[in-house]
Amino acid sequence: MFVALLYALFIFLCSFALPSKQTIKAPLKQKVRLYRPHKGQLRIHNSKARFRVVACGRRFGKTLMACNEIVKFALEHRNATCAWVAPSYRQSKIAYRLIRRAMREVITYKSDSELRIEFKSGSSITFYSSDNYDALRGNGFHFIVLDECADINELAWTEVLQPTLADTNGKALFIGTPKGRNFFFRLFARGEDEAYPDWESFHAATADNPYIRRENIEAARRELPEDTFAQEYLAVFLEESAGVFKGIDAIIKGLLNPDYKYDPKQAYSLGWDPAKYNDFSVITLMDAARRVVAWTRINELDYTVQLKLVAEIANKFHAHVLMDMTGVGDPLLEQLKQLGYKTEDDAGNKVPGFHADGYLFTNASKQELVQGLQLGVQHRDLEIPDIPVLVNEMRIFQYELSPSRKIIYSAPKGYHDDCVISLALAYEDAKQPRGPLVWSVDETKDVRTLEMTELPENKQYQIMEVEKWEEPEDEGYTIEMEAY
Ligand SMILES: Nc1ncnc2c1ncn2[C@@H]1O[C@H](COP(=O)(O)OP(=O)(O)O)[C@@H](O)[C@H]1O
Ligand SMILES: [Mg+2]
Repeated sequence: MFVALLYALFIFLCSFALPSKQTIKAPLKQKVRLYRPHKGQLRIHNSKARFRVVACGRRFGKTLMACNEIVKFALEHRNATCAWVAPSYRQSKIAYRLIRRAMREVITYKSDSELRIEFKSGSSITFYSSDNYDALRGNGFHFIVLDECADINELAWTEVLQPTLADTNGKALFIGTPKGRNFFFRLFARGEDEAYPDWESFHAATADNPYIRRENIEAARRELPEDTFAQEYLAVFLEESAGVFKGIDAIIKGLLNPDYKYDPKQAYSLGWDPAKYNDFSVITLMDAARRVVAWTRINELDYTVQLKLVAEIANKFHAHVLMDMTGVGDPLLEQLKQLGYKTEDDAGNKVPGFHADGYLFTNASKQELVQGLQLGVQHRDLEIPDIPVLVNEMRIFQYELSPSRKIIYSAPKGYHDDCVISLALAYEDAKQPRGPLVWSVDETKDVRTLEMTELPENKQYQIMEVEKWEEPEDEGYTIEMEAY
């Protein structure tokens, strides 16, 4: 009750906190009103632990709570050096702006470019990004907030911040929403371990913030995948983060076989994410049993070269191509279709030709594509060889929840997602109940016939209409369909 009152009226005398010996005149007293914490936040403010780890659902009020806590510290102490560290400057600025606006009366200096605020107490708060943790070196901090701690570069803590706090005997407040059992989880576990009396952990759900409307939380419970809701709203440290792909290890089978040969009993899907600007062009070839059998990644920006390579592989494996047709992908698709109609390659060799379709990316269609692959991985419906760049891209591929609970998928900043997208396209294509899934070439008559029976899993589709099969009529390649 006492503390509740203390906070409810949060009024304190900043210059009274640690009177400086040099001051002769009585220091001016100034009242500063902080916010009114809700019950869950109050618990955290009241803790005396030197290291507090706060794992809560999104929108619990962590950032607001920590802003008030760091300001309180800066005003109660003279000449204290405080730091606010977030995974990016963009996030750090959220706190900077909040504090700058709310504390105008007691701010003596502020710099939007340095992201620094100084107070009448002589204390300062500087706002950093853990991306650029070298900028934190050489400072002795008395109080540090690590916001969105599950996304903070662990090295920022272990290499720079932790040692500076040891020198100053400073305090730290870690706040965030769980992301699997990463660095943040280990800090949280420490706070629950009696062997670390300096550490205390707090856990709360989004619903513990009385200012969040219940119906928004209920809508999220209905709309989001169960584990995403558990992680984001209930702040559960899931065994595997509600990262995008779960069970990656279970789908990795052997190494890529560079000598893989075309198997006429198979049907192939080729997923192509063309290189745009400065990334990679990734080609994934999957057979009808959804095994990645050929794969290549080139950083060749010349579209003619990229097209030629895709056409060559598609011809060699009689593959159906599904490519990203967004932006420059659209004219590329047209050119690829033209290449697919050809029955001779540049050297005059006969080629079977192929079909290409485009996939137009919008946020919604990308979500659908990625979720398709996500389910596939979870259900072990596909196999990939152990290709390190591909596997790593899958592991770090992530989602963000927009304020309107839209899921936005992407690689983390500075990383690529071309391998993931190319795989997702190949997998999407391989799942399609498209046309003659399995062709075989009858060597004597040079006639291709359907061999559906080879692949029992394709039967479920009953897809014998073979819609939109626009194979160019060519004498050497008469097409015979059998009705099933
Ligand atoms: N004690 C409080 N009083 C009023 N509003 C609050 C309080 N705590 C949090 N909020 C509101 O809840 C929302 C989420 O707060 P925020 O600090 O951004 O959450 P988090 O960092 O946990 O995602 C914000 O709109 C914030 O203003
Ligand atoms: Mg926040």
